[in-house]
Amino acid sequence: MPVSSHRETLAALLSDGGFLAADEEAGELLASAAGDVELLDSFVRRRLTGEPLAWITGSVSFCGIEIHIAPGVYVPRPQSEPLARRALERLPATGAAIDLCTGSGAIARILTLGRPEARVVASDVDDRAVACAASNGVEAYRGDLFSPFLPDLEGRTDVVVGVVPYVPTAELPLLQRDTFAFESALAYDGGQDGTEILRRVLTETPRFLRRGGALLLELGGQQAAVLRDDLERLGYLDVTVLADEEGDVRGLEATFGGSPSVGRPHRAHAHA
Ligand SMILES: C[S@@+](CC[C@H](N)C(=O)[O-])C[C@H]1O[C@@H](n2cnc3c(N)ncnc32)[C@H](O)[C@@H]1O
Repeated sequence: MPVSSHRETLAALLSDGGFLAADEEAGELLASAAGDVELLDSFVRRRLTGEPLAWITGSVSFCGIEIHIAPGVYVPRPQSEPLARRALERLPATGAAIDLCTGSGAIARILTLGRPEARVVASDVDDRAVACAASNGVEAYRGDLFSPFLPDLEGRTDVVVGVVPYVPTAELPLLQRDTFAFESALAYDGGQDGTEILRRVLTETPRFLRRGGALLLELGGQQAAVLRDDLERLGYLDVTVLADEEGDVRGLEATFGGSPSVGRPHRAHAHA
């Protein structure tokens, strides 16, 4: 029997399924199905398996902007919004920014909308993510971290921002059901203590940032403290740990003030 298209009944079904924001989700599913009862039925069945809501509805709101989300692509989280807003603040009107591990391109999209005259590029290793980011109007390239970017960005980028994978491998099974069952470990797995990719970003960023440019990374727990020595050694100044309203560590912001030659080997570049 098809599911009810009454919001309250639908919300009760979702609530019984363990979804905390059941009423809001019921509203989103109803709006996406647009009166098509069979479609709504398939949407609800998918959601009850734990499939991410945004994969079903095809979009999510990030910093108040509607972002297209394709199935298989990481769904941007509200916790990343302050990082995106801070990256925007650090980006001059005609500056240049790199969004690493862009996923749907949500952060790059916010930068592009906020600074239409700026050059904003993004990378991701996942083809589906790159296609999704492109569908959100982002100049996105497939490749590992900085590898797809041309040398013209070296030494003149104002902002490097990234929500890179930073969950310690052993903690992956502790992620919430939607994440663990559906999303790829590629989006989360930061190696043994979660800092493997973060450390690579710290090392490779000085090749691209101008002196005074900003590095903004999402991270958690003790990771900012663990990375302090690396930050100092690599020439970052004014390192600030970003915390949320509950005081939980959510990211770090640092300004590049070191030698522009740090981490800048000459090598060939090509767009992926
Ligand atoms: C946690 S998601 C963040 C996505 C996006 N920044 C956001 O906040 O919505 C991490 C993304 O990093 C990508 N990724 C993982 N390893 C990568 C690497 N070495 N280089 C580029 N992208 C990578 C994954 O495919 C995934 O899309």
